[in-house]
Amino acid sequence: MTKPLVLRHFDKDSFLSNYWQKAPCLIKAGLSEIPEFICADELAGLSLEEEVESRIICSPTDNSAEHGKTQDGWKLQHGPFDENTFAKLPERNWTLLVQTIDFWIPETQQLVDLFNFIPRWRFDDLMVSYATQGGGVGPHYDNYDVFLVQGAGERRWQVGAKGKIPEEQKYIDGLKHLKAFKPEIDVIMQPGDILYIPPETAHWGVSVGESLGYSVGFRAPQSRDLFAMIANYLEETESNEFFEDVYRKKTNNSSCLEPELIKWAQDKINNLSKNQEVIKQILSNHLSQPKLESCARPPELPFPKFLKETLLPDQKLTLNPGSYFNWVMSEGRLIFSIDGETFSCPATFKEPIERLFSGESLEVTDIEAVKEKFAFSDLLASLVNKGYLIVTA
Ligand code: SIN
Ligand code: CO
Repeated sequence: MTKPLVLRHFDKDSFLSNYWQKAPCLIKAGLSEIPEFICADELAGLSLEEEVESRIICSPTDNSAEHGKTQDGWKLQHGPFDENTFAKLPERNWTLLVQTIDFWIPETQQLVDLFNFIPRWRFDDLMVSYATQGGGVGPHYDNYDVFLVQGAGERRWQVGAKGKIPEEQKYIDGLKHLKAFKPEIDVIMQPGDILYIPPETAHWGVSVGESLGYSVGFRAPQSRDLFAMIANYLEETESNEFFEDVYRKKTNNSSCLEPELIKWAQDKINNLSKNQEVIKQILSNHLSQPKLESCARPPELPFPKFLKETLLPDQKLTLNPGSYFNWVMSEGRLIFSIDGETFSCPATFKEPIERLFSGESLEVTDIEAVKEKFAFSDLLASLVNKGYLIVTA
């Protein structure tokens, strides 16, 4: 068993008050050493697979000489690639980026866990980029928070101030580049260095020699998605009611929408917005949707419903490490979601479920201690059989 990764030279409270969502922050030597979770050849191998999301970006020249200024001649290609793609690439000035590495290489979860002081429901995915000398994505900004963890090699990062996005931007074949920005951080990152970049913050990394970088990305709910989720939910659950106009009198304005109709629509929306239970269920479900697909794998032999009778005294239940999960209390009940599936259960399940969600394990004695132990045992059995919980000795 390798030593767990620990963040160094880093104060979580001070980071949250001074930097999170506010300003970029460099954590020099945040990790004393960094395991080689994946090498360039393995990353290239992954990018040949149909299900893996990957990109190659070629830059016009060795941009390391440039200062926050882009030029023409960038090229973006989307995977899956073939061996031929790599054979044709030049020696320098390109980068390969592969998404959801946390799904494909579960050991990389250790890197994600480093940032557990940010709620887990904010986590999106882990991306890995390999770059040759001069390779990089180009000057751009993102709408999400990211921690860049430098793996092997060195990369020069230039980062502007949050919110100061220059208006002049260039779109080149799917790449949206800032023409120029004023870097406030200009650093050559070395293995174990960590750089936090808030949303709407210009940044540009250029590889110095060959290098490999990890990006732990976070997501935030968007209002547009929220409305789409509500529409989805209503389609599945709401009985469809037609507008009725028994009140109707003869009208002289036959094309005017009358106040009764507007009130009917407004009442519908108000009733929904007052229903916290529904809003919580929708949010919980949405925020547990895995980036790619659930990595939970059901056991070969299903466990019987009465798990507490069949679980051996030395066996433990733990949460599947790659699953997306969250919980919330609603009207005296516990609502929780794992990988896009939502459960509603008695409040007495909160304590043990919360323990599972914070990485602890449960044993038979913990199940016995719950008031509705039979119902809890059934719930755990179904979570085990879906692969959301894992039984270990
Ligand atoms: C990279 O790893 O080169 C790109 C990461 C980013 O710009 O967010
Ligand atoms: Co970026």
